[in-house]
This record gives sequence, C-alpha cells and structure tokens, in this order.
Amino acid sequence: MENLMIQGRKAEHLRICAELEVEFKDKTTWLEHVHLAHDALPELSFDEIDAGTRFMGRRLRSPLMITAISGGLEAAEALNRDLAGVAQELGIAFGLGSQRPMLEDPALIGSYAVRRFAPDIPILGNIGLQQAAASDPKDIEGLVSSIEADALAVHLNAAQELSQAEGDKRFRGGLKTLKTLTRRMPGKIVVKETGCGISRETALRLKAAGLRTLDIAGAGGTSWTRVERLRGGIAQSSWLDEWGIPTAASLLETAPLGFELVGSGGIRSGLDAAKCLVLGADIAGLALPVLRAYVRDGRGGALSFLQRVIADLKAVMLLVGAKDIPALKKRKPAITGILKEWTNSRSRK
Ligand SMILES: Cc1cc2nc3c(=O)[nH]c(=O)nc-3n(C[C@H](O)[C@H](O)[C@H](O)COP(=O)(O)O)c2cc1C
Repeated sequence: MENLMIQGRKAEHLRICAELEVEFKDKTTWLEHVHLAHDALPELSFDEIDAGTRFMGRRLRSPLMITAISGGLEAAEALNRDLAGVAQELGIAFGLGSQRPMLEDPALIGSYAVRRFAPDIPILGNIGLQQAAASDPKDIEGLVSSIEADALAVHLNAAQELSQAEGDKRFRGGLKTLKTLTRRMPGKIVVKETGCGISRETALRLKAAGLRTLDIAGAGGTSWTRVERLRGGIAQSSWLDEWGIPTAASLLETAPLGFELVGSGGIRSGLDAAKCLVLGADIAGLALPVLRAYVRDGRGGALSFLQRVIADLKAVMLLVGAKDIPALKKRKPAITGILKEWTNSRSRK
C-alpha cells in the first residue's frame, strides 16, 4: 500500500514537472552575476577543444551528468533505459531517481537496472537520507551492488518534506547515517541536495563525516516545494517556494573545501555549465530540461538537447581560450551584483 502511494506520488511528480511551471519564480541561480572574460586571440581551433574529464573514477567525454529524475514506475523503465543510453552515447554521467520503491519491494529493480545500456559511464543510485537512516545499511549497500552502480547519491530534501502533507519531518540522525554509510562504502556516497543548495557550514560537517563528493543542487531551477504545492500539498506560504541558496552562491561556498563537486540546479545551457566549472564544480548536472526534451521528442530529443549543451560549452571554452577542462577551471570569473554582496557578507564572519 505504502509502495502504491509512493508510486502514485512519483507519477504525479513526473507529470507536474513535465507540464507545469515548477521552477523558482523570483530567485535565479545567480549565474547571471558570473561573467567570463572573452579571449579575442584564442589560438585554438574548435576541433581541438577537449571537454573530457574524470568523475567517480571513470572517464567522461564531457563534464556533465543527467541528475536523478525517476525510477520504480513502469513509465520510468523506458525513461531510464533511454536516458542511460543517451548518457553512454555522449560519455556523460547518469543519476537514477530514488530507489525507495525498490528498497521496499526488490522486485521493482527493473527500471533501475540500466548498466547494460551504459557500460562505461558513472551510474549513481539514489535514496533519501531519511529512508537510508531508517534502513539496514546492508540493504542500502544492496541498492548499489544489485544494479552495478558506481555510487549512491543520498539526497537531502528538508524543504520538500516540510511542504508535503505526508512528509517525514524528523531530520535527526542524518549525519550519523552518512558517517556509517561512508565507512561501509568508502568513496561511493555522494551527498546531493535537490534544489536548495549546500552551504559552507553544512559542507564542512559533511567533510568531517568523510564525504568526498557533493552535488550542491542549488536554487534557481526546479523548486520542489513548488512542485509539492502544485500537487496540492499543505497550504504553505510562498516563501517556501523560493527557499534555498542559489547555485552560483552554493558553489562559491563549497568549492574551496576540496570536494569532487557537481554544480547543478537550474543549469539550462552550455554557458551555465561552463560557469559552474569556472566557479569550482568538476561537472555540471541537469534534470528538468532533459526530462522535458525527452517528454517532447523522446530519446532523440534528450540527445539533441544535450548535444547542444555540449557544443555550447565547447564554444565557451574556445571563447575564453581554454583548450581543456583544467584550463577552463583556471579562468578567473568576474563576480558582480548580489552574488558579490553575498560572498562579501558571508566571508566577513
Ligand atoms: C521529475 C523529477 C524527479 C526527481 N526525482 C529525484 C529523485 O528521486 N532523487 C533526487 O535526488 N533528485 C530528484 N530530482 C531532483 C533533480 O535531480 C535535481 O537535483 C533538481 O531538479 C534540480 O535540477 P534542475 O533544476 O536541473 O531540475 C528530480 C527532479 C525532477 C525534475
């Protein structure tokens, strides 16, 4: 019964995200306050640009990831198979949606078992921190091994839980759970937000707990509190729809701390992705635009959207005179407006 409820909710999430306005309205990623200096003399040809990098121990042809969207539903089987195939074709990483349905009913493994469609790329499993805390660590390990994933993204979604009528509002013990999982599965746990970003203070606690990889999933893209409101969750004040640290600010907060870092939340173009890398991310992640391209035009739609993102990312690399990803990451951005103010006022503590 519980599983049917989760599946119903997941189907609604997919439909709402595909069809309705689910992004932040007032808040942006603040990437518009990050400016890259043009190099009028790049001394490169476009074909030489190498966007390859490494993530979770595997090689990527471009520094991108399709971040968690779905799983556990019949409809998610084709979606995950197709998107994993697209990720393999492009040489980028792929994140599965929450494996909670599978944790409760292992027979639902079908929509998550995508390794045969994507033999060479990093594949990340996914579970919510609260479900992980309530489960036997052996079962959590099984989520990764049974689908031959490289790692498990443990997602944090306090704001979303607060906005769900049925949400689990007990957040104690999260760090302890992450410590246990990191000890049992060294190098295989990625902590991932879902659109509210990660602050420096939180990242420092995660570092002390042994985490090495974060997906900051900042504010400015999909707003999960808005999705819940559209789903008819509890009447909530609209401030909650706009809660979170914008992606650019979250990257500036966490980049100096030495994590392997995914910059995501509102990434919609190759320029956005390039800015994430210049701010310190190792790769950039996208969810909503990939889902929408897929819903609109199927596998081919998702593929051509991501090809466009990669071509634009390479064009930006050429225009800042960066032949490869290490060179791009060395470019010094100009930070203006509210993002500069945020950084100044946060660094004065
Ligand atoms: C339909 C949909 C379902 C999602 N399901 C999950 C999930 O199961 N687990 C998770 O960690 N994140 C999930 N996310 C969050 C995304 O992975 C991402 O962190 C967030 O949407 C921000 O990125 P975006 O602005 O590119 O969408 C989902 C996103 C979408 C659009």
